[in-house]
Amino acid sequence: MGILDKHKILETNATLLLAGSLFVVTIGGIVEIAPLFYLENTIEKVEGVRPYSPLELAGRDIYIREGCYVCHSQMIRPMRDEVERYGHYSLAAESMYDHPFQWGSKRTGPDLARVGGRYSDAWHVDHLINPQSVVPESIMPKYGFLMDRVIEPEFIVERLETDRMVGVPYSDEMLAEAAADFMAQANPDADTEGLMARYPKAVVSNFDGQASLTEMDALVAYLQVLGTMVDFSTFQPDPMR
Ligand code: HEC
Repeated sequence: MGILDKHKILETNATLLLAGSLFVVTIGGIVEIAPLFYLENTIEKVEGVRPYSPLELAGRDIYIREGCYVCHSQMIRPMRDEVERYGHYSLAAESMYDHPFQWGSKRTGPDLARVGGRYSDAWHVDHLINPQSVVPESIMPKYGFLMDRVIEPEFIVERLETDRMVGVPYSDEMLAEAAADFMAQANPDADTEGLMARYPKAVVSNFDGQASLTEMDALVAYLQVLGTMVDFSTFQPDPMR
């Protein structure tokens, strides 16, 4: 009996073929999946990537609540047109502390993965209040109401703890100082030495220009840190990966 005839037995017997297929797929699956359980981490650690500061995290929650991700992605793909427009392609590590990640699947507006530092705080505030005041052809909705929504660090410790539960390395010190850090980041007159040591590159500013701390402050603090944590003038991809 030739090999083709042997194969005919399989091909003419549906149950046998199904069992055979399952066997092959199982081996393939194990080979692909099993090693992942023995890797400590599938994300290469990159210098500079840190957990969000309390105010940035609050801003991120507002970003999610307002559905900014419906129109904006936060992932620059490694293709020339994207890299030329938005900057260095996104690294997995840059969203390792994002719960949930904001990669997105739709770009009605531009990608925001590296919008941090690209515009002034005042530009962001003007743009969020009335996008058409700075980009006349814009179809982005207005978010001026964020200026009137005063926020307090009431549940910020619990918020940080929740992220810590899912693996974000917030230290006990970060939790203890969370409320103070929250307030200090929006106050250029505050003592921010501790804040900057805990969250390097955090932008300290009275983001919305008002005396009170508002959702606008938090959202702009978040936008201003996006994509700025890694120093790409010195970044080298790990050649072993
Ligand atoms: C209905 C779709 C839509 C929604 C929702 C939306 N945007 Fe936009 N966004 C746009 C479009 C279109 C542009 C490009 C024109 C412009 O700059 O206004 C834009 C531009 C931007 C820019 C400037 C980006 C750049 O590189 O020039 C920022 C920052 C931004 N949006 C932030 C936000 C934030 C924060 C939210 C949520 C509070 C949001 N957007 C919600 C459509 C949207």
